[in-house]
Amino acid sequence: MKVSHRLESIPVSGIRKMFDLAGPDTINLGLGEPDLAPPEAAKEGAIRAIESGKNKYGPTAGTPAVRAAVAEWFSRFGNVGAGNIMMTPSGSTALLEIAQAFIDPGDEVLVPDPGFVMYDPLTRLAGGRPVGYGLTGGDFQPDIEDIKAKITDRTKIIVVNSPSNPTGGVLDAASYDALSDIAEDSGATIVSDEVYHCYIYEGEHRSFMSKLDRAVVVNSFSKMMAVTGWRLGFICADESLMPDLIKMQYHVCASVNMPSEYGVLNALPELDGYLKESCETFRKRRDLISERIGDIKGLSMTPPRGAFYAFPSFDLGMSSVELAGELLRDGLVCTPGSAFGAGGEGHLRFSYAADESKINAGMDILESTIKRLRRE
Ligand SMILES: Cc1ncc(COP(=O)(O)O)c(C=O)c1O
Repeated sequence: MKVSHRLESIPVSGIRKMFDLAGPDTINLGLGEPDLAPPEAAKEGAIRAIESGKNKYGPTAGTPAVRAAVAEWFSRFGNVGAGNIMMTPSGSTALLEIAQAFIDPGDEVLVPDPGFVMYDPLTRLAGGRPVGYGLTGGDFQPDIEDIKAKITDRTKIIVVNSPSNPTGGVLDAASYDALSDIAEDSGATIVSDEVYHCYIYEGEHRSFMSKLDRAVVVNSFSKMMAVTGWRLGFICADESLMPDLIKMQYHVCASVNMPSEYGVLNALPELDGYLKESCETFRKRRDLISERIGDIKGLSMTPPRGAFYAFPSFDLGMSSVELAGELLRDGLVCTPGSAFGAGGEGHLRFSYAADESKINAGMDILESTIKRLRRE
């Protein structure tokens, strides 16, 4: 059977491509997945749910007690209740459902460039037109002037991702206010992807949960509880959008992963202590990788403020795919910056969701490869 034109026009993710090339002995700083253990209470809750027979379809929007508990935990970021929460089978699915529910052919969607690999293809699959906007400064704030210049009367959505994959950038107050004003003035909706909200090392998380009149928020338990395989996330939106989102989700998956929901439900009451510890672990790794990268001539980076990615720039007269290829031959997997859009060219992304010995081994390879290429 011939593949649809729609799918044919979408490239394979650059992240997966590198991962598939990795040999058994390579150091993998390519994938964005915490290596920590999930909270014990999460595991207990999921196991108990399976053993007590919670293995069936559930309500499409998620189990009411779970929606209420999620709303309560996240009410630190905005005045949200169970009616604002729809559980989803992952942050990825949440993004797909939002794209399919709200984008019409010809609608324009402003996406960060560089930005997470799904925003552009999901917009195209829905028939929309992704329009990249730039990021500025060493801390990768959205380029407000660029966004303003690219707003048209077809602009339906502005995608914001803080903390950011791949840059590690965290929205500052000025950017947050400027984005809110742009949404207000233009009538566009902000789709805010906040899946790394709990990993911030400088500054604070500015959530669009407090602006649901102009924003739809995507979040996920994948990174927060180190349960990427559980596939559970949620959409936080104004109640008026819920019937359409629920209709959409019914046709995507009917309902979400029931044992995962109960795992999250059991873990939420004690989650703050777990998050403090995992954030501290990642802060130490961030300091380590920033110091190591800072010592390598030919690379440049301001220490990232959030998420678990380092996104240094390089100036070696080659593309990021070529440099990532050299590193792969020397035994290190990372992701070429161009996998995140044309604006990522000239950068590499290293995930530091790996233990310190792996980070050090990876940085040793990086240092010697760059020295060789610079003929030092
Ligand atoms: C920025 C961003 N958003 C969303 C996701 C999707 O996460 P999940 O589908 O595991 O919830 C990821 C995963 O890497 C991500 O980096």
